[in-house]
Amino acid sequence: MPVPIIIDCDPGHDDALAIMLAAADPAVDLLAITTVAGNQTLAKTTLNARRVCTVAGITGVPIAPGCDRPLLQPLVVADDVHGESGMDGPRFPEPTVDAVPEHAVDLIHRILTTHPEPVTLVPTAPLTNIALLLTRHPDVVPYIREIVLMGGSTERGNRTPAAEFNIQTDPEAADIVFRSGVPITMCGLNATHQALATPEVVARFEGLGTDLGRVCAELMTFFASTYRRLWGFASPPLHDPVAVARVIDPAIVRCVPAGVVVELRGQYTRGATVVDLHRSLDLPVNAQVAVAVDAGLFWDRMIAAVAALGSRTA
Ligand code: RIB
Ligand code: CA
Repeated sequence: MPVPIIIDCDPGHDDALAIMLAAADPAVDLLAITTVAGNQTLAKTTLNARRVCTVAGITGVPIAPGCDRPLLQPLVVADDVHGESGMDGPRFPEPTVDAVPEHAVDLIHRILTTHPEPVTLVPTAPLTNIALLLTRHPDVVPYIREIVLMGGSTERGNRTPAAEFNIQTDPEAADIVFRSGVPITMCGLNATHQALATPEVVARFEGLGTDLGRVCAELMTFFASTYRRLWGFASPPLHDPVAVARVIDPAIVRCVPAGVVVELRGQYTRGATVVDLHRSLDLPVNAQVAVAVDAGLFWDRMIAAVAALGSRTA
């Protein structure tokens, strides 16, 4: 039986492919897409989610915009990474898929409390929407199967030396989520950096011979240019689909249990995920933490998803 999921995202090059994987892989049932401010403003991330659904032929999945800023600190977007549009590279047609006139938090709450079984939340962005959901509707916890998020790191950050972008953009939201008691799986940079969109991977997208395959190749090509310029990567890591892949087949993403807390006060470390892998702090074990990705299995599922969608829209 496919696992019912809701993806909460900030498209975003890697969010775009996470949406495609979630929409096409038969192991999951994508119930909704919610958007939040992060990589770009809420208006742009929501427009980008509509663009992705349009080019990928994803219909019947509601898109609901959520929070337009972090809980406390000002929004700082990642236009240096994702460009002015938030998804620079390909030219997108006018979207034919609209957003729904319901706030993301209300849509998630409504789905969770009416769906016949618990739902997995897959946030691939700052955790503002999820924190607001848990704060406004604490009754919703039993309806959440688990939260499988892309964010944090067991090692270095990327927004600062200590903090990863999704956590650092809204540390208070992340703190609320990690303290919520909901089962959490954290797919951090230490794992997602094992899912590199190499030239061979890009060639596989292009080799699909579909418009969608070409769009994915162009997204990865732009993403590669910023990762090369900013961090000297030869190939960009495709972060967000790793969280979806963990739900699809846990064998793709190996995890270990650990206590995770979010640093809120450090002058240089605010937004860091402190992962107690070796129980030195004796923190309560509140998460499964991703430590390894089977890149072969991951890319096979990612390419198969784009191939399946592309055959529908060819
Ligand atoms: O640090 C990587 C994360 O930040 C990804 O979710 C990417 O889309 C950006 O949001
Ligand atoms: Ca993202």
